[in-house]
Amino acid sequence: SINIKGRSFLKLLDFSSAEIQYLLNLSKHFKSLKMAGIPHRSLEGKNIVLLFEKTSTRTRCAFEVAGYDLGMGVTYLDPGSSQMGKKESIEDTARVLGRFYDGIEYRGFDQSLVEELAAKSGVPVWNGLTDKFHPTQMLADMLTVEENFGHLKGLKLTFFGDARNNVANSLMVVCAKLGLHFTACGPASLMPEEQLVKECRAIAAENEGSITLTEDIEKGAKEADVLYTDIWVSMGEPDSVWDERIRLLKAYQVNESMMKMANPHAIFLHCLPSFHDRLTLIGEDIYQKFGLSEMEVADEVFESRQSKVFDQAENRMHTIKAVMFATLS
Ligand code: CP
Ligand code: NVA
Repeated sequence: SINIKGRSFLKLLDFSSAEIQYLLNLSKHFKSLKMAGIPHRSLEGKNIVLLFEKTSTRTRCAFEVAGYDLGMGVTYLDPGSSQMGKKESIEDTARVLGRFYDGIEYRGFDQSLVEELAAKSGVPVWNGLTDKFHPTQMLADMLTVEENFGHLKGLKLTFFGDARNNVANSLMVVCAKLGLHFTACGPASLMPEEQLVKECRAIAAENEGSITLTEDIEKGAKEADVLYTDIWVSMGEPDSVWDERIRLLKAYQVNESMMKMANPHAIFLHCLPSFHDRLTLIGEDIYQKFGLSEMEVADEVFESRQSKVFDQAENRMHTIKAVMFATLS
Protein backbone atom coordinates (compact mmCIF):
# COMPACT_ATOMS: atom_id res chain seq x y z
CA SER A 1 0.00 0.00 0.00
CA ILE A 2 1.02 3.60 -0.63
CA ASN A 3 2.56 5.64 2.17
CA ILE A 4 4.23 9.01 1.57
CA LYS A 5 4.29 10.22 5.17
CA GLY A 6 7.32 12.39 5.88
CA ARG A 7 8.11 12.94 2.19
CA SER A 8 8.56 16.34 0.57
CA PHE A 9 6.63 17.26 -2.57
CA LEU A 10 9.22 19.00 -4.72
CA LYS A 11 8.65 17.63 -8.22
CA LEU A 12 6.59 14.83 -9.75
CA LEU A 13 9.69 13.05 -11.04
CA ASP A 14 10.17 11.95 -7.40
CA PHE A 15 6.79 10.16 -7.29
CA SER A 16 5.58 6.95 -8.89
CA SER A 17 2.48 6.78 -11.06
CA ALA A 18 0.71 4.88 -8.27
CA GLU A 19 1.61 7.56 -5.72
CA ILE A 20 0.28 10.32 -8.00
CA GLN A 21 -2.92 8.38 -8.61
CA TYR A 22 -3.24 7.86 -4.85
CA LEU A 23 -3.02 11.63 -4.30
CA LEU A 24 -5.72 12.18 -6.91
CA ASN A 25 -8.00 9.67 -5.21
CA LEU A 26 -7.38 11.29 -1.85
CA SER A 27 -8.21 14.67 -3.42
CA LYS A 28 -11.58 13.35 -4.59
CA HIS A 29 -12.24 12.09 -1.08
CA PHE A 30 -11.50 15.51 0.45
CA LYS A 31 -13.54 17.25 -2.23
CA SER A 32 -16.60 15.17 -1.43
CA LEU A 33 -16.18 15.78 2.32
CA LYS A 34 -15.98 19.52 1.66
CA MET A 35 -19.01 19.44 -0.66
CA ALA A 36 -21.04 17.55 1.95
CA GLY A 37 -19.97 19.99 4.67
CA ILE A 38 -18.36 17.22 6.73
CA PRO A 39 -15.57 18.54 8.97
CA HIS A 40 -12.17 16.89 8.54
CA ARG A 41 -9.91 18.51 11.10
CA SER A 42 -7.66 15.48 11.31
CA LEU A 43 -4.40 17.44 11.57
CA GLU A 44 -5.44 19.51 14.56
CA GLY A 45 -2.45 20.64 16.63
CA LYS A 46 -0.10 20.86 13.66
CA ASN A 47 1.26 24.10 12.18
CA ILE A 48 2.49 25.00 8.73
CA VAL A 49 4.32 27.99 7.24
CA LEU A 50 3.89 29.36 3.73
CA LEU A 51 6.94 31.12 2.25
CA PHE A 52 6.39 33.15 -0.90
CA GLU A 53 9.23 34.84 -2.79
CA LYS A 54 6.84 35.48 -5.69
CA THR A 55 3.23 36.68 -5.59
CA SER A 56 0.25 34.29 -5.54
CA THR A 57 -3.52 34.14 -5.25
CA ARG A 58 -4.55 30.52 -5.83
CA THR A 59 -1.59 28.69 -4.29
CA ARG A 60 -1.47 30.81 -1.17
CA CYS A 61 -5.22 30.70 -0.56
CA ALA A 62 -5.40 26.98 -1.37
CA PHE A 63 -2.74 26.21 1.24
CA GLU A 64 -4.40 28.50 3.80
CA VAL A 65 -7.93 27.14 3.40
CA ALA A 66 -6.74 23.54 3.14
CA GLY A 67 -4.65 24.05 6.28
CA TYR A 68 -7.58 25.54 8.22
CA ASP A 69 -9.95 22.80 7.02
CA LEU A 70 -7.52 20.20 8.35
CA GLY A 71 -7.44 22.04 11.69
CA MET A 72 -3.91 23.37 11.38
CA GLY A 73 -2.36 26.70 12.31
CA VAL A 74 -1.05 28.61 9.27
CA THR A 75 1.61 31.33 9.01
CA TYR A 76 2.09 33.26 5.76
CA LEU A 77 5.40 35.02 5.07
CA ASP A 78 5.85 37.21 2.01
CA PRO A 79 9.24 38.17 0.59
CA GLY A 80 9.23 41.51 2.36
CA SER A 81 8.43 40.26 5.81
CA SER A 82 11.09 37.71 6.68
CA GLN A 83 14.88 37.60 6.93
CA MET A 84 15.14 34.73 4.47
CA GLY A 85 17.48 35.23 1.55
CA LYS A 86 18.52 38.70 2.70
CA LYS A 87 19.85 38.72 6.23
CA GLU A 88 19.66 34.95 6.67
CA SER A 89 20.52 32.02 4.44
CA ILE A 90 17.92 29.56 3.20
CA GLU A 91 19.79 26.88 5.12
CA ASP A 92 19.50 28.62 8.50
CA THR A 93 15.90 29.64 7.80
CA ALA A 94 15.04 26.02 7.05
CA ARG A 95 16.64 24.77 10.25
CA VAL A 96 14.75 27.33 12.34
CA LEU A 97 11.36 26.82 10.70
CA GLY A 98 11.76 23.05 10.92
CA ARG A 99 11.80 23.46 14.72
CA PHE A 100 8.50 25.38 14.78
CA TYR A 101 6.45 23.88 11.98
CA ASP A 102 5.28 20.47 10.81
CA GLY A 103 5.46 21.42 7.13
CA ILE A 104 6.74 24.21 4.89
CA GLU A 105 5.37 25.50 1.57
CA TYR A 106 7.86 27.38 -0.58
CA ARG A 107 7.39 29.40 -3.80
CA GLY A 108 10.54 30.87 -5.28
CA PHE A 109 12.97 31.04 -8.16
CA ASP A 110 15.57 28.26 -8.35
CA GLN A 111 14.42 24.66 -7.98
CA SER A 112 17.65 24.11 -6.03
CA LEU A 113 16.38 26.37 -3.22
CA VAL A 114 13.26 24.34 -2.53
CA GLU A 115 15.39 21.19 -2.67
CA GLU A 116 17.80 22.70 -0.14
CA LEU A 117 14.98 23.74 2.14
CA ALA A 118 13.72 20.17 2.11
CA ALA A 119 17.17 18.72 2.76
CA LYS A 120 17.83 20.98 5.75
CA SER A 121 14.50 21.54 7.48
CA GLY A 122 13.74 18.01 8.65
CA VAL A 123 10.01 18.39 7.83
CA PRO A 124 8.02 17.92 4.60
CA VAL A 125 8.47 20.79 2.14
CA TRP A 126 5.91 21.44 -0.61
CA ASN A 127 6.93 23.20 -3.81
CA GLY A 128 4.42 25.99 -4.49
CA LEU A 129 6.14 26.86 -7.82
CA THR A 130 9.72 27.41 -8.91
CA ASP A 131 11.14 28.54 -12.26
CA LYS A 132 11.38 24.87 -13.24
CA PHE A 133 8.32 23.07 -11.84
CA HIS A 134 4.81 23.64 -10.45
CA PRO A 135 3.87 20.18 -9.11
CA THR A 136 0.82 21.03 -6.98
CA GLN A 137 -0.77 22.63 -10.05
CA MET A 138 -0.51 19.30 -11.86
CA LEU A 139 -2.68 17.45 -9.38
CA ALA A 140 -5.45 20.02 -9.82
CA ASP A 141 -5.09 19.81 -13.59
CA MET A 142 -5.23 16.02 -13.70
CA LEU A 143 -8.18 15.95 -11.29
CA THR A 144 -10.03 18.37 -13.58
CA VAL A 145 -9.25 16.27 -16.65
CA GLU A 146 -10.36 13.11 -14.88
CA GLU A 147 -13.61 14.77 -13.78
CA ASN A 148 -14.37 15.64 -17.39
CA PHE A 149 -13.35 12.43 -19.15
CA GLY A 150 -13.68 9.79 -16.44
CA HIS A 151 -10.12 8.62 -17.05
CA LEU A 152 -6.65 9.93 -17.90
CA LYS A 153 -4.73 7.26 -19.80
CA GLY A 154 -4.62 7.70 -23.57
CA LEU A 155 -5.93 11.28 -23.65
CA LYS A 156 -4.09 13.87 -25.74
CA LEU A 157 -3.09 17.04 -23.91
CA THR A 158 -1.44 19.86 -25.85
CA PHE A 159 0.32 22.81 -24.28
CA PHE A 160 0.50 25.92 -26.50
CA GLY A 161 3.00 28.66 -25.78
CA ASP A 162 6.22 28.96 -23.78
CA ALA A 163 6.89 25.24 -23.44
CA ARG A 164 10.07 25.82 -21.42
CA ASN A 165 8.21 27.20 -18.45
CA ASN A 166 7.43 25.57 -15.09
CA VAL A 167 3.88 24.62 -16.05
CA ALA A 168 4.81 23.06 -19.41
CA ASN A 169 7.72 21.14 -17.84
CA SER A 170 5.47 19.78 -15.14
CA LEU A 171 2.68 18.86 -17.55
CA MET A 172 5.16 16.87 -19.60
CA VAL A 173 6.21 14.97 -16.47
CA VAL A 174 2.72 14.27 -15.16
CA CYS A 175 1.43 13.17 -18.58
CA ALA A 176 4.38 10.78 -18.91
CA LYS A 177 3.70 9.38 -15.44
CA LEU A 178 -0.02 8.89 -16.02
CA GLY A 179 0.07 7.68 -19.62
CA LEU A 180 -1.35 10.70 -21.46
CA HIS A 181 -0.09 11.84 -24.86
CA PHE A 182 1.64 15.17 -24.25
CA THR A 183 2.32 17.61 -27.06
CA ALA A 184 4.26 20.85 -26.70
CA CYS A 185 3.19 23.19 -29.49
CA GLY A 186 5.22 26.37 -29.97
CA PRO A 187 8.28 27.80 -31.66
CA ALA A 188 11.46 25.69 -31.63
CA SER A 189 13.25 28.23 -29.41
CA LEU A 190 10.66 27.77 -26.62
CA MET A 191 10.70 23.98 -26.34
CA PRO A 192 11.52 22.15 -23.08
CA GLU A 193 15.14 21.22 -22.35
CA GLU A 194 16.39 18.20 -24.19
CA GLN A 195 17.45 16.39 -21.02
CA LEU A 196 13.98 16.65 -19.47
CA VAL A 197 12.32 15.57 -22.73
CA LYS A 198 14.55 12.50 -22.82
CA GLU A 199 13.75 11.62 -19.24
CA CYS A 200 10.02 12.06 -19.83
CA ARG A 201 10.06 9.98 -23.00
CA ALA A 202 11.52 7.08 -21.04
CA ILE A 203 8.82 7.44 -18.38
CA ALA A 204 6.06 7.80 -21.00
CA ALA A 205 7.20 4.58 -22.69
CA GLU A 206 6.57 2.67 -19.46
CA ASN A 207 3.03 4.04 -19.20
CA GLU A 208 1.87 3.87 -22.84
CA GLY A 209 2.08 7.64 -23.13
CA SER A 210 4.11 9.76 -25.53
CA ILE A 211 5.86 13.12 -25.85
CA THR A 212 5.60 15.16 -29.07
CA LEU A 213 7.23 18.52 -29.79
CA THR A 214 5.87 20.47 -32.73
CA GLU A 215 5.76 23.95 -34.24
CA ASP A 216 2.71 22.98 -36.29
CA ILE A 217 -0.54 24.28 -34.79
CA GLU A 218 -2.75 21.85 -36.65
CA LYS A 219 -0.67 18.91 -35.49
CA GLY A 220 -0.88 20.20 -31.92
CA ALA A 221 -4.61 20.82 -31.93
CA LYS A 222 -5.79 17.91 -34.03
CA GLU A 223 -7.52 15.25 -31.92
CA ALA A 224 -6.51 17.03 -28.72
CA ASP A 225 -8.74 16.35 -25.71
CA VAL A 226 -7.18 19.06 -23.56
CA LEU A 227 -5.84 22.39 -24.85
CA TYR A 228 -3.72 24.13 -22.25
CA THR A 229 -1.94 27.44 -22.24
CA ASP A 230 -0.18 29.74 -19.78
CA ILE A 231 1.04 33.32 -19.62
CA TRP A 232 3.71 34.10 -22.24
CA VAL A 233 6.12 35.66 -19.74
CA SER A 234 6.52 34.05 -16.34
CA MET A 235 7.23 35.56 -12.93
CA GLY A 236 10.91 36.27 -12.53
CA GLU A 237 11.41 37.10 -16.23
CA PRO A 238 11.99 40.77 -17.07
CA ASP A 239 9.20 42.76 -18.74
CA SER A 240 11.63 43.47 -21.57
CA VAL A 241 11.09 39.98 -23.01
CA TRP A 242 7.41 40.67 -23.78
CA ASP A 243 8.07 42.07 -27.26
CA GLU A 244 9.98 39.06 -28.46
CA ARG A 245 7.66 36.60 -26.74
CA ILE A 246 4.58 38.11 -28.40
CA ARG A 247 6.26 37.93 -31.79
CA LEU A 248 7.12 34.27 -31.22
CA LEU A 249 3.84 33.18 -29.67
CA LYS A 250 1.16 35.29 -31.36
CA ALA A 251 0.27 32.45 -33.72
CA TYR A 252 -0.17 30.02 -30.82
CA GLN A 253 -3.01 31.91 -29.13
CA VAL A 254 -5.77 29.50 -28.15
CA ASN A 255 -8.86 30.78 -29.96
CA GLU A 256 -12.05 29.50 -31.49
CA SER A 257 -10.48 28.40 -34.76
CA MET A 258 -7.89 26.35 -32.86
CA MET A 259 -10.61 24.75 -30.70
CA LYS A 260 -12.38 23.71 -33.90
CA MET A 261 -9.34 21.65 -34.96
CA ALA A 262 -9.50 19.69 -31.68
CA ASN A 263 -11.88 16.93 -30.64
CA PRO A 264 -15.45 18.24 -30.28
CA HIS A 265 -15.53 17.31 -26.58
CA ALA A 266 -12.15 18.98 -25.91
CA ILE A 267 -11.70 21.15 -22.83
CA PHE A 268 -9.60 24.27 -22.29
CA LEU A 269 -7.35 24.64 -19.23
CA HIS A 270 -5.14 27.46 -17.94
CA CYS A 271 -3.36 27.48 -14.58
CA LEU A 272 -4.20 31.20 -14.25
CA PRO A 273 -3.64 34.06 -13.85
CA SER A 274 -4.28 34.69 -17.53
CA PHE A 275 -3.01 37.79 -19.21
CA HIS A 276 -6.37 39.33 -19.93
CA ASP A 277 -6.61 40.01 -16.22
CA ARG A 278 -3.16 41.54 -16.15
CA LEU A 279 -3.44 44.55 -18.41
CA THR A 280 -1.86 46.95 -16.00
CA LEU A 281 1.28 44.89 -15.57
CA ILE A 282 2.94 46.16 -18.71
CA GLY A 283 0.46 48.77 -19.95
CA GLU A 284 -2.23 48.52 -22.56
CA ASP A 285 -0.15 49.84 -25.42
CA ILE A 286 1.45 46.45 -25.94
CA TYR A 287 -1.84 45.24 -27.43
CA GLN A 288 -1.95 48.11 -29.90
CA LYS A 289 1.68 47.74 -30.79
CA PHE A 290 1.16 44.17 -31.94
CA GLY A 291 -2.38 44.54 -33.24
CA LEU A 292 -3.64 42.04 -30.66
CA SER A 293 -6.73 42.35 -28.53
CA GLU A 294 -5.93 39.23 -26.53
CA MET A 295 -2.82 37.30 -25.58
CA GLU A 296 -2.45 33.57 -24.87
CA VAL A 297 -6.20 32.85 -24.89
CA ALA A 298 -9.09 34.57 -26.64
CA ASP A 299 -12.10 35.51 -24.51
CA GLU A 300 -14.34 33.46 -26.83
CA VAL A 301 -12.54 30.35 -25.52
CA PHE A 302 -11.86 31.48 -21.95
CA GLU A 303 -15.57 32.23 -21.43
CA SER A 304 -16.86 29.22 -23.39
CA ARG A 305 -18.50 26.04 -22.10
CA GLN A 306 -15.34 24.15 -22.99
CA SER A 307 -13.33 26.24 -20.54
CA LYS A 308 -12.87 24.52 -17.18
CA VAL A 309 -10.44 27.03 -15.69
CA PHE A 310 -12.46 27.82 -12.58
CA ASP A 311 -13.07 24.16 -11.73
CA GLN A 312 -9.35 23.75 -12.20
CA ALA A 313 -8.65 26.65 -9.82
CA GLU A 314 -11.04 25.21 -7.22
CA ASN A 315 -9.27 21.88 -7.46
CA ARG A 316 -6.01 23.49 -6.31
CA MET A 317 -7.46 23.54 -2.80
CA HIS A 318 -8.69 19.92 -2.70
CA THR A 319 -5.45 18.56 -4.15
CA ILE A 320 -3.16 20.61 -1.92
CA LYS A 321 -5.16 19.34 1.04
CA ALA A 322 -4.47 15.79 -0.10
CA VAL A 323 -0.73 16.47 -0.42
CA MET A 324 -0.52 17.93 3.09
CA PHE A 325 -2.61 15.16 4.61
CA ALA A 326 -0.63 12.38 2.92
CA THR A 327 2.78 13.77 3.84
CA LEU A 328 1.88 14.79 7.41
CA SER A 329 -0.19 11.89 8.73
N1 CP B 1 -1.94 28.91 -10.70
C1 CP B 1 -1.28 29.50 -9.70
O1 CP B 1 -0.29 29.00 -9.17
O2 CP B 1 -1.81 30.71 -9.34
P1 CP B 1 -1.20 31.72 -8.26
O3 CP B 1 0.06 32.31 -8.88
O4 CP B 1 -2.27 32.74 -8.05
O5 CP B 1 -0.86 30.96 -7.02
N1 NVA C 1 4.31 30.18 -15.66
C1 NVA C 1 3.64 31.05 -14.72
C2 NVA C 1 2.71 30.26 -13.85
C3 NVA C 1 1.95 31.06 -12.82
C4 NVA C 1 1.08 30.21 -11.95
C5 NVA C 1 4.67 31.77 -13.89
O1 NVA C 1 5.63 31.13 -13.45
O2 NVA C 1 4.53 32.97 -13.71
